Amino acid sequence: MTTGQERVSPLNVHGYEESARAVLPLMVFDYIRGGSGDEATLRANQSAFDQWRLLPRVLRGHAATSTETTVLGQRVSLPLLIAPVGFHRLVHDQGEIATARAARGAGTIYTCSTAATFSIEEIAPHAGPWWFQLYVFQDRSITVDLVQRAAAAGASAIVVTVDTPVLGRREADETNHFALPGGLGWANLAGTTHQDMRATAGSGLTAYTTTSFDRTLTWRDIEWLATVSDLPLIIKGVLAADDAREAFDRGVRAVVVSNHGGRQLDGAVASLDALPAVAEAAAGRGEVLMDGGVRRGTDVLKALALGARAVLLGRPVLWALATGGEAAVLELLNLLGSELARDMALCGCATTDDVTASLVVRRGPVG
Ligand code: FNR
Repeated sequence: MTTGQERVSPLNVHGYEESARAVLPLMVFDYIRGGSGDEATLRANQSAFDQWRLLPRVLRGHAATSTETTVLGQRVSLPLLIAPVGFHRLVHDQGEIATARAARGAGTIYTCSTAATFSIEEIAPHAGPWWFQLYVFQDRSITVDLVQRAAAAGASAIVVTVDTPVLGRREADETNHFALPGGLGWANLAGTTHQDMRATAGSGLTAYTTTSFDRTLTWRDIEWLATVSDLPLIIKGVLAADDAREAFDRGVRAVVVSNHGGRQLDGAVASLDALPAVAEAAAGRGEVLMDGGVRRGTDVLKALALGARAVLLGRPVLWALATGGEAAVLELLNLLGSELARDMALCGCATTDDVTASLVVRRGPVG
């Protein structure tokens, strides 16, 4: 939401959250911030980073630092991608188009949510490299249509979210009767009965999910999805190493270690805590990404050291978008990129290949 006043650039990600709190209606701010149940997993996602400490190396003599890497063969300027997040137009008129343009400006990958408030076709011309996140609908013709439209519009991967057979109970959304205001809808489902998400007695999103999403998904459906297009599949919402093995057995190219930002199963393990075992299971078989609680360059560094190829950023993107549209999202990505570059330099790393497990230790005495 733009205020018309001149914006002061926040110093860090926390500053974007505070700026967003000042401009967003409570229903929208709570929808973004909140988790499910007692929000134990939401808190754990962030506190897990604090259980690891960095063990910097000195006198490496690097004149420069590069945060570049590749993800599924795509070069990105930093190992930080945009997570799929629904309903960007709740916070800014330019919504997903602004976010996609900012990601392109920063040289990273934008992930378009099924729940976008602009359509795939409206967003794609503004995006650099982008992925499409898929929720599988009970009506399989809708699912096929979404995947084929994403492929036709130039997506380079399909990210299937598998942690949402039912929606986690987000109590703030129940209290606030979370729904989309008139004029906003599931733009990718325009012309179907799944376009609208209106107010109900509790959370409109819970009602929508129950009647639309397919809770009967199995690994066989993942094999089926692989035949719907030529695009590589990424599975988002894996926490157990066994599930990562299953995914790679079925030709999935990457998994995202994620608990949906603490919005699904409350009490689920923090993403960072799940990462090392998944990374071990994936070794040599596919790439591992993670999201949940990344708020600092040092968080990115720790996730890379524990086996992630890159991390995804959820809430902070919407906070930035709310406070200043495309320019603020670009500024946020540049801020985290420069934090990461500084932290890498302080650790004696010149490139992301130098970020290895030897850089992190569990909190407590070393050695
Ligand atoms: C999400 N997330 C999400 N995931 C997904 O696969 N499809 C979606 O449409 C959404 N929508 C969504 C909306 C909002 C408001 C939030 C906060 C999150 C989950 C998201 O992709 C990611 O897993 C988490 O947000 C990562 O945690 P952080 O970075 O928010 O801590």
